[in-house]
Amino acid sequence: MYVFDIDRSGAKADLYREMLGALDALTADEPDAIANMANAAALIWEYLPDLNWAGFYRLVEGELVLGPFQGKAACIRIAIGKGVCGTAAETRETQLVADVNAFPGHIACDAASASELVVPIEHEGRLIGVLDLDSPSPGRFDADDAAGCEALAALLALRLAG
Ligand code: SME
Repeated sequence: MYVFDIDRSGAKADLYREMLGALDALTADEPDAIANMANAAALIWEYLPDLNWAGFYRLVEGELVLGPFQGKAACIRIAIGKGVCGTAAETRETQLVADVNAFPGHIACDAASASELVVPIEHEGRLIGVLDLDSPSPGRFDADDAAGCEALAALLALRLAG
């Protein structure tokens, strides 16, 4: 069991800094990518309020395949270019979606999702997968969340590259 002393009283950037430290400590000595993604999803779920899904899709033989996550059972395979996750994978750019219903081709895995943040995970120019966060609140994610999740993804890229 790992117990985290989470301080949610400060700026969002501070919370992400704390989370990055915790993720670093949790994954530093573990080479298994699935174990590291599983703990990363659990950590995000515990640290960040107002989420209904947090987890990973891995690039496997040219498509995104569901990885470790917290939340309801989700779509298993997503083609590159499809939905918010497939768009992040195709463009290699973070997708910050304030209203998922306004995103053309959004894939509704959980009808409760109102906003979404998807960050590509890349190592040395190679796409490993994406980190996907969903919230039941519209406009839940902002530029601080995008920057924070990009920092988590950059650390994870090193720990998942194998
Ligand atoms: N909404 C995503 C699909 C994955 S679920 O949110 C977990 C999308 O449009 O790609």
